[in-house]
Amino acid sequence: MHKAYLTIDPAFRVAPVRRRTFGTFVEHLGRCVYTGIHEPGHPTADEDGFRGDVLELTRELGVTTVRYPGGNFVSGYRWEDGVGPVAERPARLDLAWHSTEPNTVGTDEFMRWAAKAGVEPMMAVNLGTRGIQEALDLLEYCNIPSGTRLSDMRVKNGAPDPYGIRMWCLGNEMDGPWQTGHKTAREYGRLAAETARAMRMVDPGLELVACGSSGSAMPTFGAWEAEVLAETYDLVDFISCHAYYEEKDGDLGSFLACSTDMEHFIASVVATADHVGAKLKSRKKINLSFDEWNIWYLSRFQSQEPPRDWPVAPPLLEDHYHLADAVAFGGLLITLLRNSDRVTAACLAQLVNVIAPIVTEPGGRAWRQTTFHPFAQAARHAAGDVLRTEISSPLYDTAEFGEVPLLHAVATHSEETGEIAVFAVNRSLDQPLELTLGTRAFPGARVAEATTLCGPDVYARNTADDPGRVTPRPNPDVQDGRVVLPPVSWNVIRLTTA
Ligand code: AHR
Repeated sequence: MHKAYLTIDPAFRVAPVRRRTFGTFVEHLGRCVYTGIHEPGHPTADEDGFRGDVLELTRELGVTTVRYPGGNFVSGYRWEDGVGPVAERPARLDLAWHSTEPNTVGTDEFMRWAAKAGVEPMMAVNLGTRGIQEALDLLEYCNIPSGTRLSDMRVKNGAPDPYGIRMWCLGNEMDGPWQTGHKTAREYGRLAAETARAMRMVDPGLELVACGSSGSAMPTFGAWEAEVLAETYDLVDFISCHAYYEEKDGDLGSFLACSTDMEHFIASVVATADHVGAKLKSRKKINLSFDEWNIWYLSRFQSQEPPRDWPVAPPLLEDHYHLADAVAFGGLLITLLRNSDRVTAACLAQLVNVIAPIVTEPGGRAWRQTTFHPFAQAARHAAGDVLRTEISSPLYDTAEFGEVPLLHAVATHSEETGEIAVFAVNRSLDQPLELTLGTRAFPGARVAEATTLCGPDVYARNTADDPGRVTPRPNPDVQDGRVVLPPVSWNVIRLTTA
């Protein structure tokens, strides 16, 4: 059996666990909003038309932040269409997803839903077809208590208290030629800087996110971040990162190691941001908002014909995840946590139906995809500080990333509760991995609980009829600080130190 060793020591601290690591994303895309979070007439719908089953699963998932309303959608969005009496709202063409947007749900509905779900909103403004004025208008509508035209409009629309939204995205993926209103780095950098400057005149305490590249494979990756940050460095707090992964050509070994790419991506953006900071002789550090990440079978989506007509809420990007997807996904989550010193916000894209951990049937059932579980467990058990864990693990060879450790792991430690949580993935396709936990720095540490997400069929999925097929189960193979991780598995080991 393969053997690996993990040293856990509270002296080696990366950063506090950032609650915003557990953000997700609700875009007006496919069935994320309509028949996802919102479906009046559904048996579980509340007085606002929000599905109660989805709200419950969102809470169980442990979501902290939700980015809204896009995504590519935001780059053509007129927020004013989505406020006021629903019967008077216009339907519009959504160029991003070749759909019709009925505008039944808009800012006020989303904010009501966010309050019910207990999540912090992360609002995006349209810097594709629109600009500074419209961003300011939305900010005034949302955050000014009253006494101005737009704040009074919000009050009239049923929201007497300002929303106090702190985190704002300055557009979305503006480097992508598919983006409505796509721009060069200089064009976007200037617009983002002036939008940020104006928004800060309204409220200097806002936290602003400039668009980084839409992926590390973009031809402008690196140069884009450098040029955008050269324009915006003193005006923004975050640069965004987006990354999606999929198993290609049946190469499961490389797929399970996809967090290697994410690790490199993060290091590159940190280096670029710090280089700009050094040139500007600035002491400020720009953090990373990894506000779109997930497993997404993008090549499958790209090979499909876009809808010819303009449907309302068509099923789009509805990937059904299997066990191996959840293990690769867990690896990405581990990487985000390991980089908590600079990745201080992240959004799993997306929340429901659209490449999502939650799936719904219109009018019917809702269930947890395989990827639901690593996210929910990490959101629940990661607490206190992220520790720099020393890993000693056998390597394996991958076509995409060369030699990669079989074990990928991170640990958190809460001084308050004394609990250590270890999140670990065994990437081996066929061999268990015996993991020894080196806890000398924690006398009396003992394993209180160990669960594993694994199974004989790595392509097993959860369905409406069999929603519990892939679910974490107690790991029976635990002895004296030694836990056996099954092949292709996501594992959570909780230790008490009291
Ligand atoms: O999350 C799906 C899409 O992926 C988003 O709309 C866009 O920002 C990204 O390309």
